[in-house]
Amino acid sequence: MMNKLPQQEENRRTVENRKNYLLRRQAQYQYAYEYANTIAVVRKLPCREIPGPGYWLRGGINLLQLIPSLPSLLVTYMRYLLGKPMESYHDYIFYPFSPPNPALVDNFQQDLIFGLQRVIGVNPVVLRAVTSQHPLPQKLPESEIQRVFAKYVDETDYATAITQKRVYILDYADLEILQRNPGQIDGGRKQYVTTPIVVLFLQADGILRPIAIQLYQDAGLDNPIYTPNDGNLWLAAKTFAQVADGNHHILVTHATRIHYVMEAIIMASRRQLYKSHPLCVLLNPHLRHTLNVNHQHTFLRDRKGRPGRYGELFAGDYDATTQCMANGMTSFDFRASAFPNDIASREVDNPDLFYPYRDDGVLLWNAIQHFATEYIDVCYQSDGDVAEDCEIQAWAHDIGAQDRGRIPGFPARFASRQELAETIGHVIFLCTAFHSCIHFNQYKYPGFVPNMPHSAYAPPPAGKGAEMDADGLLKFQPAFRAAYSQTWTYFQTNFTVNRIGQYPLRQFDPAARDVIERFRKQLQEIAGQIDQRNSSRPVPYGRMNPRIIPNGVTV
Ligand SMILES: [Fe+2]
Repeated sequence: MMNKLPQQEENRRTVENRKNYLLRRQAQYQYAYEYANTIAVVRKLPCREIPGPGYWLRGGINLLQLIPSLPSLLVTYMRYLLGKPMESYHDYIFYPFSPPNPALVDNFQQDLIFGLQRVIGVNPVVLRAVTSQHPLPQKLPESEIQRVFAKYVDETDYATAITQKRVYILDYADLEILQRNPGQIDGGRKQYVTTPIVVLFLQADGILRPIAIQLYQDAGLDNPIYTPNDGNLWLAAKTFAQVADGNHHILVTHATRIHYVMEAIIMASRRQLYKSHPLCVLLNPHLRHTLNVNHQHTFLRDRKGRPGRYGELFAGDYDATTQCMANGMTSFDFRASAFPNDIASREVDNPDLFYPYRDDGVLLWNAIQHFATEYIDVCYQSDGDVAEDCEIQAWAHDIGAQDRGRIPGFPARFASRQELAETIGHVIFLCTAFHSCIHFNQYKYPGFVPNMPHSAYAPPPAGKGAEMDADGLLKFQPAFRAAYSQTWTYFQTNFTVNRIGQYPLRQFDPAARDVIERFRKQLQEIAGQIDQRNSSRPVPYGRMNPRIIPNGVTV
């Protein structure tokens, strides 16, 4: 047997070697706390975490594809230098030979496109049903919503719609800190973000239609509820809902609850699992490149103390942006975030709801859980074997402990094979299928910046009496910032280096190899099943297709 649990080592010398190896690793991977001194990161990035030349070559080739579009970008830049405003939404396609999503340019302001992005966009985990257990939040006056509902929904009445799970909300209360502390960039240009609550109705065709948006949390005369009847003010309100979703997507769902949760898991894996521990061998292919990605100056300050350039695109000032990430971590719960728990707690199980993230996600979740269970059963003969494995117990402790990885809700120790398998499956799902959904649609949706800006650069409507023309709407996005944002998302999302299910089989024991082969076969079957589903869906959804899911958080 090549791969051994610590208790399976046969002699004192190998036991000592194993311990000394881990002590060296613990010296190399020490904890520091960033983002309002809250989120655990590796203090100094070890060289072995920096990808080899193949990775950078792929990144370079990726950028080369933008070259044919450079003359067009130059013309836009000259116009920007001459102070000419953007004239139409087509001007926001900065790379005409590699456009983000041509179909979106002419229809991104439609209500149904807004509704679709809740279920196939970059942040499909905010939507929740309004039910008797989870009614509308009190800060949104229900009588007013009933009135709006009666006006814009012919199909059914409000009470029936609630019992049938046809009323949904998005609530961006988490962004209060950004709203209170907006950023300023480019010589003092002010950034804007609000904390909207959006109400959506589920149509008979399964598509969500927004019917009401309150831009701030507290109800009041100066905080009206905008509806589809409000013309350009409605379009502006939807833009502010998109700004909020764009901030929530990166600062809460993506950077914090994927990239930095994985950082703590990787730290623990390097520090506590010997290289031939069967779970180290299994997890290693999922843990590559992430620490290096997380240590770029996207949000972190550089050596001179300057905030990361990408972070500046977000609507709060630096302290508020990083505090928002910190809050996203302290309010996170690893167990509650497991795919089925998340679907259940948001009550988004109505089968009539067109929700491919949910429907394809359950295939991937079940396949990965089954794979993890089979693998754990090969490695551990009993629950006692799990309890006795001091390395995996130290791994769990490292991830959750306050003086270590600080991931809330991570099991402090494992008492059974089932508990361990569930957690390992959850980790693999998080860095493969879930990250695929949250990361790789960025060029498609926020990449076309007017659709989902990370800040607005003009104030939100100041009430129902406000005037706003088409030029007013264009002012939300200055050209230079939009071009920068589009370039960044292009680079990040057009770049993959591996696929789910890729494992170096030589490093596994024969029984484990069989488990991997079965998993690969199951992934192939799921890919076919999703292809089949997509051929008859109103809009195809590819991000859960194993054919394009990367094997980890590699970018
Ligand atoms: Fe990512």
